[in-house]
Amino acid sequence: MRSIAVIGSLNMDIVNRVEKAPLPGQTIKALETSYVPGGKGANQAVAAARAGARVEMFGAVGADTYGEILLENLRSSRVGTESVLLKQDVGTGLAFITVDELGENSIIISPGANGKVETQDVQVEERQLLEPDIIILQNEIPYSTVAYALEYFGAKGKYIIYNPAPAFAPPENAFSRVGLLILNETEAAVLSGAETGTIEEVHSAAKILVDKGCREVIVTLGAKGLFYLNREGTTVYLPAFKVAVTDTTAAGDTFVGAYATAMVEGKPVQEALRFASAASALTVTRKGAQTSIPERLEIDAFLSQRQFVDDL
Ligand code: RIB
Ligand code: NA
Repeated sequence: MRSIAVIGSLNMDIVNRVEKAPLPGQTIKALETSYVPGGKGANQAVAAARAGARVEMFGAVGADTYGEILLENLRSSRVGTESVLLKQDVGTGLAFITVDELGENSIIISPGANGKVETQDVQVEERQLLEPDIIILQNEIPYSTVAYALEYFGAKGKYIIYNPAPAFAPPENAFSRVGLLILNETEAAVLSGAETGTIEEVHSAAKILVDKGCREVIVTLGAKGLFYLNREGTTVYLPAFKVAVTDTTAAGDTFVGAYATAMVEGKPVQEALRFASAASALTVTRKGAQTSIPERLEIDAFLSQRQFVDDL
């Protein structure tokens, strides 16, 4: 079976549900507080594994209880954790998340062990682990490590999916190593230097990103859906599935992981986009990060239901 390696962050998410996010200087009471396994890297790994792929996680946690909980949660989602290192003298990464009544979130991350993931931590061969077909990267570990992974796996001809979140514009030479760039409209604006307010602007921004050297770009547009563009000029606009929003946390991560799974399964682009959108739609209907990521059976059931509705 073809496989995926995710190189990135693991966080314990400390989530406060509130009516409205606090203003500067204001103190408010949370309606509910929960501890949920998260981190963009780990969420994407869980999404890919639950969608049906073989997945290995590369990253780091601190030698503490949160780290143990995060590793256990990855294993129970069938994600390989042999390459998640225990870093001494630093805590497991934390994310402080506020979710308001509309399901919108704001997040502060405290990197902890994620900030200590070094270049030698991502060298697969030396530790004789799997030879992944697809590598997934984000921006919650040091960029020097991301840059190294782009070079290291790019030179081996691996297909690299890069989700530049939180938004950070990498040096220009990074783009030619990227197979597929998946980013939201805010990140697309930062990386392209162009506006992304309308679908025409999103198209132009995606074109700028493809011209920088990546093969394919997907700009996710939240409730508006997504826009796809590749080097050959193929474009796809796919509206989002309409669902009741509970908590958008990890919706983007679910899209990335599920899309990677669809790719290793060889699904054509249109079908892969629809599959990943369905997975992501399910995630926004539920609370928390990894607690909200669907299993393959749920994605397939959702798609066949929607197919039925579309056919009526
Ligand atoms: O993308 C969502 C994730 O961002 C959360 O799980 C949190 O850990 C932050 O990294
Ligand atoms: Na969610």
